[in-house]
This record gives sequence, structure tokens and C-alpha cells, in this order.
Amino acid sequence: MSEKILVIGANGQIGTELVAILRGIHGADAVIASDLKSPIYNLRKNSGPYEIVNVLDKDNLHHIFEKHRPTQVYHLAAILSAVGEQKPKIAWDLNMTGLLHVLDFSVEFNVKKVFWPSSIAVFGPHSPQWDTPQYCVMDPNTVYGFSKLAGERWCEYYFNKYNLDVRSLRYPGLIGWRANPGGGTTDYAVHIFHEALKSGHYECFLSANTALPMMYMDDAIRATIMLMDAPADKVEIRSSYNLAGISFTPTQLAEEIKKHIPGFEISYSDNDPRQQIADSWPKSIDDSYAQNEWGWQLEYNLPKIVADMLLNLRELV
Ligand SMILES: NC(=O)c1ccc[n+]([C@@H]2O[C@H](COP(=O)([O-])OP(=O)(O)OC[C@H]3O[C@@H](n4cnc5c(N)ncnc54)[C@H](O)[C@@H]3O)[C@@H](O)[C@H]2O)c1
Repeated sequence: MSEKILVIGANGQIGTELVAILRGIHGADAVIASDLKSPIYNLRKNSGPYEIVNVLDKDNLHHIFEKHRPTQVYHLAAILSAVGEQKPKIAWDLNMTGLLHVLDFSVEFNVKKVFWPSSIAVFGPHSPQWDTPQYCVMDPNTVYGFSKLAGERWCEYYFNKYNLDVRSLRYPGLIGWRANPGGGTTDYAVHIFHEALKSGHYECFLSANTALPMMYMDDAIRATIMLMDAPADKVEIRSSYNLAGISFTPTQLAEEIKKHIPGFEISYSDNDPRQQIADSWPKSIDDSYAQNEWGWQLEYNLPKIVADMLLNLRELV
């Protein structure tokens, strides 16, 4: 049976890249991109079916499921960590109610597989900060973090109760050149490249030694598709898998960029609210469950990420 894949939140940092890869694998017509907003340039260029949808509007979303009868759904629409702290109730509503609508319609329309991303934001100040394990104390103190933790519980619940094949990854901060990030705490690691090329200087909103787990978008998309392709019996975790990436500080990233742009300078701003969020998150992650259960292996280290980002962004400008 051929696949019909619905991607919700397709206009975002991950969606624009994921839709292009899925269309390459399954054909443009098999992948329905959907978002609250009309398609950004990258999605229009990479054309295929597109629907305007609001996951909070039940009738609207139901109509999209009925019209396309998807076999797989990737639900990416969310409000991220930094923006979530500015609009806590709106973030909770979108991140929770939106997910529940998608899970309910996936059960109703017999969707074969659902992907929903969680985040390293599910961990909190009392979680171990280095090599954070899959199972440990989780006390997230951002709305984003506890909406993701509650979302993980719902995903596992729908798997156990309704037999819905839901799969999920706890993404680290993602770095890519094709789309802008959507208001998270790790956005600096994308902005820095644009500013390095544009002005040779970047003022970082996180402090010099803030280590955070990060991952190149190519690895993140590959992990997502590997997880979705894995045989169901290999996917033992139905809440969400830890995914490590690599850990570095703004200083280490700047030093790597300087190898390509020798005059590049970085400075650091004080008192940005995102610092507090970053301080509550893990500095590195243990993803041995993903490695052992479905064979996950990382490809991009820091030098490779920096070289690839600069190469591609230089071609864009
Ligand atoms: N980017 C990261 O570094 C990162 C890290 C961890 C987890 N995640 C998770 O991955 C998912 C996608 O992240 P992203 O970075 O692409 O986010 P993004 O903010 O770039 O994109 C989200 C998209 O959702 C759309 N959207 C918002 N409200 C909607 C609604 N009511 N109905 C339909 N669409 C709506 C937005 O228009 C936007 O295009 C999110 O669940 C996020 O929490 C992202």
C-alpha cells in the first residue's frame, strides 16, 4: 500500500527540511504539507500538496484527515521554549490540545504511524546534567518542557490504550541552513552563522560556557526517518527516545567558525531570560537506547557542522 503522509507544522525549521526529504522518498504527491500559515519559499519551490490547517480547530483538522486519509502523520506544530515563556497559556494549549486532536484523529482514521517530537527540555534542574539518562528525575520548569513531558505521557498512553503506533524523539537543539529557527533557547547556534557571514560579529544571548546538546538537521531528519522505518517491535520506548547529538558551548562554536572566518568575533549579552532556561537543561545526553534498539549513529561532529553550514549559507547569499 502506498503511503499518504501528513506533515503538520510544515513551514517550520524542521518541517521545511522534513517535507523535502519525505517527498524525495515517497514522491511529491504522497506528502501533504500543512501549516497555519501559507507556504514559505522553500516549500513552494519544493511543490506538492499544501493545506492551511489549524490543529486547534477540530473541524478544520478533521476535514484534512477525512480528505487525505493519511497513513502516516508527523505532528510538528508547537510553541518552542523561549516564546512559550512569553505566552505560557497559549503554548500549553497549542502543545497539548493540538497533540490530543492529532492523536484522536489518528485513532479515528486508523493512521499506521504517528511521529511527534519531544525535546531535551523535558529534563529539569534536578535531572543529571551530564550524560542525562533516558530514565531519571524529570522536573522541567518551563511551560514548553512540561508540555513536552505531558505529551510524552499521552503518546505512551495512546500506544498502550488504543494501540496507536506513536514514535517520538527528544531532539536536542537543531542546527540547519535551510530555515530559520522558531523561538527556542538554542537558536543562537543558527543565528551565529548568519551574523558571522553578514557582519563578522555576533552578540550571543547565552553565556560563553553554556554547554548544550545540539544536532545537525541532517542527522535529526535521518534519525526521524530511521525511527519511523524501524520495525514496531524494535521501538520499545513509546514515550520518547533520548537523542544526544554533540555538546558544545558558544565559545567552542565561535572558535570553530574562526577557523573559516578568521576575523569573526563573538560577544555575550547579560540577563537574557533564555540563559535561565539553558541552565535548567542537560549539558549532554545518553542516547544508548536509540543506538541499541534501532541502530542510531550520529554523523555530524562540530567541525563537520560548521563546514557544511558555512558552505551552504555562502551559496545562498
Ligand atoms: N528546532 C529545534 O531545535 C527543536 C528541538 C526540540 C524539539 N523540537 C520540536 O520539533 C517540532 C518542530 O519544531 P520547529 O523548530 O520546526 O518549530 P517552528 O516554530 O520552526 O515551526 C512550527 C510550525 O508550526 C506552525 N504552527 C503553529 N501553530 C499552529 C497551529 N495552530 N496549527 C498548525 N500549525 C501551527 C507554525 O506556523 C510553524 O510553521 C516542535 O514540536 C518542537 O517542539 C524542535
